[in-house]
Amino acid sequence: MHFRDHWQLNPDIDFLNHGSFGACPSIVLQTQRELIDQLERDPIRFLAPERDLEPKLDEVRQLIGQLVNAPTSDVAFVRNATDGVNAVLSSFPFNPLDEILITNHGYNACNNAAHHAAKLTGAKVAVAEVPFPLHSNAEVLDAIERKINSRTRVLLIDHVTSPTGLIFPIEDIIALAHDQGVQVLVDGAHAAGMLPLNLSTMAADYYTANHHKWLCAPKSSGFLYVQPDLQHQVRPSVISHGANQTRPHRSRFITEFDWAGTFDPTPILALKTAIEFLESLYPGGLTELYRCNHEKTISARNLLCDALQIAPPCADNMIGSLASIPLTLSQLDRHSTDNLSATEQLQHTLVNEHRFELPVYQLGSPDQCCLRISMQAYNDISQVNRLSKVMARFVN
Ligand SMILES: Cc1ncc(COP(=O)(O)O)c(C=O)c1O
Repeated sequence: MHFRDHWQLNPDIDFLNHGSFGACPSIVLQTQRELIDQLERDPIRFLAPERDLEPKLDEVRQLIGQLVNAPTSDVAFVRNATDGVNAVLSSFPFNPLDEILITNHGYNACNNAAHHAAKLTGAKVAVAEVPFPLHSNAEVLDAIERKINSRTRVLLIDHVTSPTGLIFPIEDIIALAHDQGVQVLVDGAHAAGMLPLNLSTMAADYYTANHHKWLCAPKSSGFLYVQPDLQHQVRPSVISHGANQTRPHRSRFITEFDWAGTFDPTPILALKTAIEFLESLYPGGLTELYRCNHEKTISARNLLCDALQIAPPCADNMIGSLASIPLTLSQLDRHSTDNLSATEQLQHTLVNEHRFELPVYQLGSPDQCCLRISMQAYNDISQVNRLSKVMARFVN
């Protein structure tokens, strides 16, 4: 059996976009369906927090705690990384003199959350411009350091950047920010399931990640870690019963995040099956999965760079299982399609004429973009070989 047979992806498409929404293996969906059946057989027993739900959530919390090396009391559940980022930023007591620092590689939705929090409180948003191609981690640290000043309160930073797939030097960034009294909110949407995580040594103030991307859990499910000293301040995006409820042996932080109104907890509860499945793919478990996905990504990126005659935009150790290839659109021969930007046209052509699913992001000027590939266990280098042949035909 090939790894791809464990997933339900359309065989007519070369799916190189695990990064956007993940893809859930059949066995995980089966677990989720069984959980939905249990829920619907006895909704009160299943969903009432003090009956079956809290112990079940606590089991998954234990799993996450082990996966990211964090105390379970510091881990809450969120629907997704956007939810986690919003919860932290909308709870933060900004005042009009404060600044939130973001980067130009940040995910648009999360950068919007920073702008929204700033608008509501009168604070400002500053943007650190990290170059791409990136030659060294020092360039990331320099870009951030240049934008930190006495008004900076929080740095919102991707662990693995969304459009460019870079693994930022997160420990060094946190140390730099902490030296200047700046708290760090890490958006680890892609990191969980792509890289080993150790939140105890990382020392982020806040860390949020998705289960439904590289951990292959059902959509939508994620976690938010908050340092104990800051938990009193962080409230979920939705205020519900937990705001005035005291539950024995449970902090308000956990109680509030465990229940943000009626929800479907089955994506969270199916995480155990997802982790067990990923661990079973290689004899070396998750560590070997991370390594194999990374090695495939490097080979895939190099194939594309050779076909497009460009240099790899960063060192091999700066990426995991996502890679972006910068392109100048004026160098490409493309069909022109009305009402679409140049990047949309390229993506449209790749999907509709060549059956590739992968994102094309604009980067800086309208003529600059990057093509992002994801390499999960089900991906094969032959898919990227075909992509590089198609792309080579576009080069003038
Ligand atoms: C870095 C980053 N943060 C946040 C998100 C948002 O994920 P979600 O929509 O699941 O919240 C993404 C999605 O691709 C991402 O790449």
